[in-house]
Amino acid sequence: MLIDTFGRVATDLRVSLTDRCNLRCTYCMPEEGLQWLTKSDLLSDDEIVRLIHIAVTRLGITEVRFTGGEPLLRPGLVGIVERCAALEPRPRMSLTTNGIGLKRTAAALREAGLDRVNVSLDTLRPDVFKTLTRRDRHQDVLDGLRAAHDAGLTPVKVNAVLMPGLNGDEAPDLLAWAVEHGYELRFIEQMPLDAQHGWKRDGMITAGDILDSLRTRFGLTEEGESVRGSAPAERWVVDGGPHRVGVIASVTRPFCQACDRTRLTADGQVRTCLFAQEETDLRGALRSDAPDDEIAALWKTAMWGKKAGSGLDDPAAFLQPERPMSAIGG
Ligand code: GTP
Ligand code: 5AD
Ligand code: SF4
Repeated sequence: MLIDTFGRVATDLRVSLTDRCNLRCTYCMPEEGLQWLTKSDLLSDDEIVRLIHIAVTRLGITEVRFTGGEPLLRPGLVGIVERCAALEPRPRMSLTTNGIGLKRTAAALREAGLDRVNVSLDTLRPDVFKTLTRRDRHQDVLDGLRAAHDAGLTPVKVNAVLMPGLNGDEAPDLLAWAVEHGYELRFIEQMPLDAQHGWKRDGMITAGDILDSLRTRFGLTEEGESVRGSAPAERWVVDGGPHRVGVIASVTRPFCQACDRTRLTADGQVRTCLFAQEETDLRGALRSDAPDDEIAALWKTAMWGKKAGSGLDDPAAFLQPERPMSAIGG
């Protein structure tokens, strides 16, 4: 079991498969990209499957989420999913993606055993998409979403980050669109995890702002803590149901006390939190032929050191982690 000193148990593993991306969202990375990890830095497919095997057989992990960067850029993704689906006990598996290329791979991913996907889409306006992501791929994302839905990778969730002056006024339009298409929309407060370190608390759109804006067009009823469990998203029932909308308010309403996550970076480092300052090197252990029980013990020790929270609730003391979101795996 992966337990920390606050009694939280991690059952949800987020695995970053690459730090690369084919978009350049302004709240994430600069136009020129970043210093990418090299092939030998990255865990191999075999190494990833071995760590997930250890996590599900020895450490109580029941949910695995593949992230990036953009995980669809990882050539071996379908094979990794297939091999994880054969593990005993079989973990539930999901993918967080920008949707580009999903049109081509959704059916194969479903076939391989993926359960569901979360797709990032911040705007319904192609021109705003191009400004926000610096790439003209809006239609690819819409096509990917449809393909995921049709392939049964459901519920399909859509993640949107709102930026003032860009898509800041789009919350009601996005919700109307998501309801129409049967996607579960969640708004994410922008977090200080951008590579450029340009995040400012004053400049962000808060959960409160988003809810006010949605209430101009929809009736929202809170779903309540009993349904939420450890999920980052607080959910509201839209116009009496059955649709829901979520808000992930990491900054203004942190949910760290219920956190059930552990993370693995694409270069094989355990992170106990998105905002952790320390990492534990499992790649080194793998490559020096450490047995499974030694690797499991390293992982347990890492989680025992997990801090109480992200530190976002104490702005004066907050320190942004060195790795940006794209290299941690959102
Ligand atoms: P599901 O609701 O189970 O599909 O998962 P999820 O919402 O955690 O997944 P997703 O990958 O779509 O993440 C949505 C947003 O939540 C992203 O911006 C993540 O960075 C953020 N998020 C995920 N895990 C954490 C966490 O442990 N702490 C914080 N503060 N944010 C997180
Ligand atoms: N703050 C909040 N969300 C972010 N994402 C990427 N960078 C940030 C940030 N700085 C979102 C993406 C994606 C999810 C994994 O994280 O838009 O939906
Ligand atoms: Fe890529 Fe996701 Fe970062 Fe956008 S937010 S640049 S899609 S990793």
